[in-house]
Amino acid sequence: SLPVPSVQHLTLNIVNEIPDRYIRPEFQSELVCTDDSFQIPVIDFSKILNEKLRRDEMTKLHAACEEWGFFQLINHGSEETIEMMKNHAEEFFKQPLEEKKAYAQEPHSMEGYGQAFVQFEDQKLDWGDMYLVRALPVGIRNMKFWPKYPNTFRTPPKQEKLPGTPQSSTSIPHPKSKEIQPGLLGVVRMKPSLKREIIDRYSTEVNKLAIQLVGMMAENLGIEAKQLTGMLEDVLQPLRMNYYPPCPQADKVVGISPHSDPIALTLLIETNNVQGLQIRKNGMWVPVHAIPSAFIVNIGDMLEIWTNGKYKSIEHRVVVNHHKERLSVAAFHAPNNEDVIIGPRPDLVKEGAKYYKSTDLNTYYKLNGTLQGKKHANEMKLVN
Ligand code: SIN
Ligand code: FE2
Repeated sequence: SLPVPSVQHLTLNIVNEIPDRYIRPEFQSELVCTDDSFQIPVIDFSKILNEKLRRDEMTKLHAACEEWGFFQLINHGSEETIEMMKNHAEEFFKQPLEEKKAYAQEPHSMEGYGQAFVQFEDQKLDWGDMYLVRALPVGIRNMKFWPKYPNTFRTPPKQEKLPGTPQSSTSIPHPKSKEIQPGLLGVVRMKPSLKREIIDRYSTEVNKLAIQLVGMMAENLGIEAKQLTGMLEDVLQPLRMNYYPPCPQADKVVGISPHSDPIALTLLIETNNVQGLQIRKNGMWVPVHAIPSAFIVNIGDMLEIWTNGKYKSIEHRVVVNHHKERLSVAAFHAPNNEDVIIGPRPDLVKEGAKYYKSTDLNTYYKLNGTLQGKKHANEMKLVN
């Protein structure tokens, strides 16, 4: 059973008043930026790949990482894959609770269906549910948390792929093709085996992009690409689908408490064009207006530390809508190899000015367990 109720199903029985545990007065008085033109930068990936346009776009990328820690990435080539992932995430959360419970989190693990960061009996709660699978490395995949096949609720695919058949990513039909038909709920109903392929394809493409971006960041910082990409050669990539139900007291709750990501790099998509993500900047919360089919990319604490503070990991939160649900999918990237050191890369420690400690991966993760606020990078800070 779930440690706390699913918010999505809790809301089905609520008219006006929500349980006390979700009321968060501490966040209600904070300033939200109302200037819609103050937005995170937009980086055009196709320009970086274009010899003539590369230089300018790389400069923009560098500024985005230094000044914002957040940017949107457009023309990245994974638009179709995003479309399929969106459908999958929406379909997952629209299942009846009983079906989702088959994927319920186990104690002390965030993998599966449940809530983020619930640690104490009396802990205040975020207004959202999540479904997390560890997608990479392939060896740690726990298939019981992946969309089930065979699945008694759905008709199995007519023919399974024969062993030895090459796994071509182009074999996944486009969401508009006849293979996938919109279901009763208006979302596309997919076969479970197809969903597994979609998670697999999404994971591969997003990881490839993440590594490319980190390589470009290294170039921008004047160090060898390997100095940063090497940290993620053996990558741990959890995928987290977030579901924030509408809330009758939306201004009293928070979808995800303010935090920075403790990992290296996050690529996020908002699946249904409902705004909610806000980042802390200039003493305000700045709403992110997500561009459909763009990735929202953010620097995590590890990249801040590796770059000796050149690039910043920015605190963010999610606010909830009165009438509309919001969905998002986050792909996190961190080293999987326990021998990787979290500390400034030697080439970026100029004249001995080292601003963060160096520690091993396990010690790093133990620094803070609640993920409230920007704890990891701050804990690692050295006072020079
Ligand atoms: C997150 O910070 O992990 C979630 C962000 C979002 O849902 O937009
Ligand atoms: Fe986050």
